Amino acid sequence: MYDFQIEAPDKPELWRQLVAAADALTEGEPDAVANMANVAALLWESLPDLNWAGFYRNLDGELVLGPFQGRAACIRIPFGKGVCGTAAATLEPQCIEDVHAFPGHIACDAASVSELVVPVVGADGALIAVIDLDSPSRARFDQEDVAGCLELARRLSDRLGGVAKGSFGS
Ligand code: SME
Repeated sequence: MYDFQIEAPDKPELWRQLVAAADALTEGEPDAVANMANVAALLWESLPDLNWAGFYRNLDGELVLGPFQGRAACIRIPFGKGVCGTAAATLEPQCIEDVHAFPGHIACDAASVSELVVPVVGADGALIAVIDLDSPSRARFDQEDVAGCLELARRLSDRLGGVAKGSFGS
């Protein structure tokens, strides 16, 4: 059993503890799906006011649903479409106050109002996946969340693109 006590007085400290816990959870494990599953669970448990937390993987230039917590979601998202597809196409984080005002937003869960999507990029500069966080509250995410989630993506990128064996992600 893993029991991470993440309690912090402010967001930067919360993200610092979350990144450290994710680092410890994935250390030495080469399987990307296992690592994404545990990181999704950690995000879900540690961050308040979410209704979805997880990954979309880059499979041959299309985003495909990966490990997540929350309601069942759309499976495939083209690059450039919606918030996730925009993050994938631009390789830039997308911090959206109100998704209903975002052109082309894909409504997987009607409860989602704000959203943060951060690209996970490999050492070669190619997109591995995106981290998608959704909230039922307007403007739930800010620049401190962007910075924290980017640090998570940077720290874990080499553990989120690998395979133990077989052909996942290749
Ligand atoms: N709303 C997202 C789609 C993914 S779900 O939120 C899980 C988007 O527009 O990219």
